[in-house]
Amino acid sequence: MKLALTVNGKKRKVDVPPMKRLLDTLREDLGLTGTKEGCGEGECGACTVLIDGEAVNSCLVPTLQVARAEVVTIEGLAASRGKRDNRVNRVKLHKLQSAFLECGGAQCGICTPGMIVAAAALPKAPSREEIRVGLAGNLCRCTGYMKIYDAVESALGSHKKSAKRAPRNPKARAKVKA
Ligand code: FES
Ligand code: FES
Repeated sequence: MKLALTVNGKKRKVDVPPMKRLLDTLREDLGLTGTKEGCGEGECGACTVLIDGEAVNSCLVPTLQVARAEVVTIEGLAASRGKRDNRVNRVKLHKLQSAFLECGGAQCGICTPGMIVAAAALPKAPSREEIRVGLAGNLCRCTGYMKIYDAVESALGSHKKSAKRAPRNPKARAKVKA
């Protein structure tokens, strides 16, 4: 079946069985291999993409279902927000991707793209709890979540928000109480 999709802001045409998993269409037909397959059963979040801004497991979505939707993959995060750096001729990373590198949150190649895409669907300046809940469907089977949460906080400005909520300087806290 011929389908017109919108992926990473571009119109793309594919000729695939309508029930083909979006994950496979992205990887096999569109060459977007940044989206990974972990469990293939909707349990791990490795295949997370944004569909109309919502984080969704692409292993559970038939391609037909996104024919009228906007799909964003890990490649689209960098391309949509970054700028070409002519001197080195490469795409500038999205702030979440940069923060994952800086904070040590990019731990393996399987879970990281899904974690970053899921984080991109979080509200601005999320609390640690909002980050935990937002990434609850993204599993790390090896290293742990602390550096990932730190990276998301750093990229999305959560530190500034928490500083406003509970100033660390006791004098400042007293001022707020007064
Ligand atoms: S591969 Fe889709 S949720 Fe695990
Ligand atoms: S599964 Fe990717 S860092 Fe653990």
